[in-house]
Amino acid sequence: MVKLAKDEQEMLDGKHGRAQQRAMEILVLYADALGAERFVDTNNVHLFVGFHPYPEVIKILDGDELASKFLLDTDEKIVVDYVKTFNTTHIWAMDLERWKIMGAPESLHMLMESIRKYSIRTGISLSATCTPYQVGNVPTKGEHCAWTESSAVPFCNAVLGARTNTEGAHSAFPSALTGKVPLWGFHLDENRRGTHLVDVHFDVNSIMDWYLLGYYVGEMCQLAVPVYNLKFNRIPNISMLKGLNSAGASSGGIMMYHIIGVTPEAPTMEAAFSGNKPQEAITYGESERRQTYDHLNSAKDNNVDLVNIGCPHYSLEQLRDVAQLLDGKKIHENVDLWIWTAYQLKSIADRNGFTDIIKKAGGQLMTDSCPLNANLFPKGTNIVATDSAKHAHYAPAIGGVDVFYGTMEECIDAAITGKWRGELK
Ligand code: F3S
Repeated sequence: MVKLAKDEQEMLDGKHGRAQQRAMEILVLYADALGAERFVDTNNVHLFVGFHPYPEVIKILDGDELASKFLLDTDEKIVVDYVKTFNTTHIWAMDLERWKIMGAPESLHMLMESIRKYSIRTGISLSATCTPYQVGNVPTKGEHCAWTESSAVPFCNAVLGARTNTEGAHSAFPSALTGKVPLWGFHLDENRRGTHLVDVHFDVNSIMDWYLLGYYVGEMCQLAVPVYNLKFNRIPNISMLKGLNSAGASSGGIMMYHIIGVTPEAPTMEAAFSGNKPQEAITYGESERRQTYDHLNSAKDNNVDLVNIGCPHYSLEQLRDVAQLLDGKKIHENVDLWIWTAYQLKSIADRNGFTDIIKKAGGQLMTDSCPLNANLFPKGTNIVATDSAKHAHYAPAIGGVDVFYGTMEECIDAAITGKWRGELK
């Protein structure tokens, strides 16, 4: 049984209201199921409140009722005053402003509007992105967090050295209400040590290659903690690490890893393993790269219907690059071009003229969401081109589409010509 501190017991006893009491009830069940001995304080939660638009969700338009039912797991209507912690929110089921372009129905718009109003009233951030670390949620080394979103979790753990498990909607919301998270998993030193050695012989030096590496290693390691030993001394940037993280969390469930000489808990091989003996040594070279690329390219017909890029949400660097590629160009009449980023980054893209360039070319720069969350693709989409291994992994199963995976340049070429001409170089 989890041991409660005085303030935690008070919350559980209802001294601070029914919302905190219900949240503590859930967290105690959660902690007991996980074998956590105690809680730690958190002031950093990445929440999911956007709701998947299932029929039973879409007809409830009262924010308190929705949150009670789907985040606090009760039919009792619990009114939340204001959430306790700093928070950001994961993506929502649609772009809150450009939902008609996505083909979202009015019923979904009404649902999102009620959640928007609820969020404003209760102190929930309207950030609506899978990349909270790109929009100001940057926890410090050692900080305990409660983050949802599989692609963001390794960023928190491995890149920043902060500490989180992959939380779900039902655990993150109670953490935001109470400022508490069970002490287990990646909050503990012993679970952050490397378990598998990955010798990388290929010179991984592009965003596409970091996706491919992450995808291969995710498949091989599943929930383990890989330690990347790069033979070619490369320092990945944020866009590359986003690729590595999201791919490894799609083919597997990588939540924590080390890159020797790069990530904060791995200045040396010894530090990365911290006394652990590698359970397995994995090699990544030309043939593993080719095998991964072929696996992700499921499409045969090279007539592309949709180019979907920005998964995870594009960084400023990527927005600038894509605008440069599209400047003065026109996309093919048979193709839709959807580019996804965070709302906050779009406002910089607006100021810099990137959004205008994308629009003039016939593309859409959208925010808050992505086609996979609400399964909203343009009508008649059969073939999708993407520069995201995560999108390539999930789109066939969720959207029933075939996928081409390649670089941003190849995706923009497909948007302009209507044809996929990408190849592994
Ligand atoms: Fe983000 Fe959607 Fe991709 S949530 S990581 S853009 S699948």
